[in-house]
Amino acid sequence: MGAHKRILMVGNGGRENALSNALLLSPQVEALYVTPANWGIVDPQAGPDGSRVQTLALQVGDHAGIVQAARDLLIDLAVVGPEQPLVDGLADELRAAGIAVLGPGRAGARLEGSKVFAKDFMARHGIPTGGFAAFTEHDEMVAHLQKLNGPVVLKADGLAAGKGVIVCANREEALDAAQRIMVDREFGSAGDVAVAEERLYGDEISFTCLVAGDQVALLASSTDYKPLLDGNTGPNTGGMGNICPTPFATVEVLAEFEERILKPFAAGLKADGLDYRGFLFIGTMLTEDGLKVLEFNVRVGDPEAQVVLPLIKADWLEVFTGVAAARLDVAGITRREGACVAVCAASANYPYGKSEPAVIEGLDRIHARGLLTPGPDGVPPVSVYFAGVGAESLASEQVAADEVRPAYTNYFAGLDRMRFLATGGRVLAVSAFGKDLSDARRIAYEVLGNLHFTGMQFRSDIGKLR
Ligand code: AMP
Ligand code: GLY
Repeated sequence: MGAHKRILMVGNGGRENALSNALLLSPQVEALYVTPANWGIVDPQAGPDGSRVQTLALQVGDHAGIVQAARDLLIDLAVVGPEQPLVDGLADELRAAGIAVLGPGRAGARLEGSKVFAKDFMARHGIPTGGFAAFTEHDEMVAHLQKLNGPVVLKADGLAAGKGVIVCANREEALDAAQRIMVDREFGSAGDVAVAEERLYGDEISFTCLVAGDQVALLASSTDYKPLLDGNTGPNTGGMGNICPTPFATVEVLAEFEERILKPFAAGLKADGLDYRGFLFIGTMLTEDGLKVLEFNVRVGDPEAQVVLPLIKADWLEVFTGVAAARLDVAGITRREGACVAVCAASANYPYGKSEPAVIEGLDRIHARGLLTPGPDGVPPVSVYFAGVGAESLASEQVAADEVRPAYTNYFAGLDRMRFLATGGRVLAVSAFGKDLSDARRIAYEVLGNLHFTGMQFRSDIGKLR
């Protein structure tokens, strides 16, 4: 493979921060453009002359702008991180312009974009999942719920930023959920169709896979901590932390996943003629009747990316370039011994609403201890991935991307000149590597203990096993 590859990273959350850091381990990356800006991306090769990271100000919904930029900047590989642009066909538009893309086109992205499409796909190809029924009319849904005996989960069919799923304890809650999704339209047009799904019980396991054509490979299994509060209580979030590997995925469970889910999935892609090139994240529940699929995500998870990628040794540029060309070569991929634990720090009003910007303190303390400095293989013991983080110059008010670029080589190198603000959502994630789960957990919490911003919320039980 020729050197000097130019990458475009679409999306600026913690997931895209982790994808960028992983790609920048490859010396063949000449430049990485991220849009919009993410101040947390670390280039291990950055020096006094700057880094390979550049920022653009294009929003992920600006498809025309992104395609134009990819052309103008002679991009060799575009990586589309979030689900919304994938569902909206950005990968197709980039491919039509001759740009190689990691991420499925609109057709494949329906596996996440429509729960009904995903359920039909699973039914057609014999992939185990909970029973379900879909409705467009509220009164038909109500009639269905009146007849049901067991507990149910109601889901808006379309994308709803991880919030369109309501797990119901009884009929009353189910009727209320139907009202919220189908009548009050809490999730907008995502609720044009609603799904009533059998409620499943068990431990959840997320499987991060790569798919190229009809070839599939499991990269890692992990456990997401979806609810906001300790003990899995409180409202659902995008994920407040993650551990990899997950102790729930025993050798038997992994074999069951390969046989009963991944193989039929690959056969299904082929049978349906779906050209899928990208990450696939399969959310499952380990029930008494075995593994059942809760959902497909057509991208790597967030914060799954923040624990899966640092645990794997690979030339990601080579792997992603292959997948973009419908070629899956996992021969060079190996797993590091050990475990990763990521703990998210969210802003004051997450997941309900916006929060006032708040200064993030303590990054300098972590940096001073050398924890963020890449080791011999380029991977630091601890990474702080940014999601809802803004930058501010200490000298003046808001700084332009260009002005910040020298500091941006590695964000911590600029800590004497700028400060970072928590601007909302899951602000950042501390991801630590350890010799085992409890070691990684100890380090992650120790490091997080150095960080502070007003209203900071985090769970204290990530990686703590019952
Ligand atoms: P999803 O976005 O479909 O993964 O749903 C979000 C969360 O809701 C999952 O991670 C589960 O915790 C829960 N959930 C979804 N479907 C079910 C189900 N059929 N039974 C029980 N819990 C579910
Ligand atoms: N952490 C779950 C997701 O990315 O959907």
